[in-house]
Amino acid sequence: CKVAVLISGSGSNLQALLTASNKTGAPFSICSVISNRPDAYGLARAAAAGIAASVVDHHDFSSRTSFDRALIEAIDRQTPDLVVLAGFMRILTPEFVRHYRGRLLNIHPSLLPKYQGLHTHRRALQAGDSEHGATVHFVTEELDGGPPVVQATVPIQAGDTPETLANRVQVQEHVIYPLAVTWFAEHRLHMQGERALLDGALL
Ligand code: GRF
Repeated sequence: CKVAVLISGSGSNLQALLTASNKTGAPFSICSVISNRPDAYGLARAAAAGIAASVVDHHDFSSRTSFDRALIEAIDRQTPDLVVLAGFMRILTPEFVRHYRGRLLNIHPSLLPKYQGLHTHRRALQAGDSEHGATVHFVTEELDGGPPVVQATVPIQAGDTPETLANRVQVQEHVIYPLAVTWFAEHRLHMQGERALLDGALL
């Protein structure tokens, strides 16, 4: 299974996927890394791993539609089976989302459906929640609203700041994202209608 990874920043989730793909018998390989930011540190991680990386800079396009079309072209050049958003900080057009329907995954740093959008760690702390986490989900046209695939939960501890909480959540992100991609690559994970299926059972 060939996987394209889209990033905007540090790429720690990309790193977790690279590491998983390098294990003996891994059912997937990363065929390309694409960033919308030329300064994303994840590009260096791709280079270090010998993976083809490219930049499609949204500043070079006058509209979201033309940016997304260029992105589709760059992705499809490598004919991936799965497209993985890993800290990709652009909202995608319905056209883009439809093009990859059923083979587009995202990771979001909250226990969806809680805290869609930004500043999730701060919002969980402000709400006085006792736990927080991350969710891998299929992407649909509703922002952070597609069917969940797997969640990891972490406790919120006294004295947590958005940073300490983010760090605790990220450790788990690096576990659940490779897991979800592995399931997909093994043909165990599918999207059916608006639901995710694992081994034929609704998630
Ligand atoms: C992660 O926390 C992810 O949940 C969110 O963006 C962050 C990306 O981090 N969507 P990294 O670039 O993978 O380190």
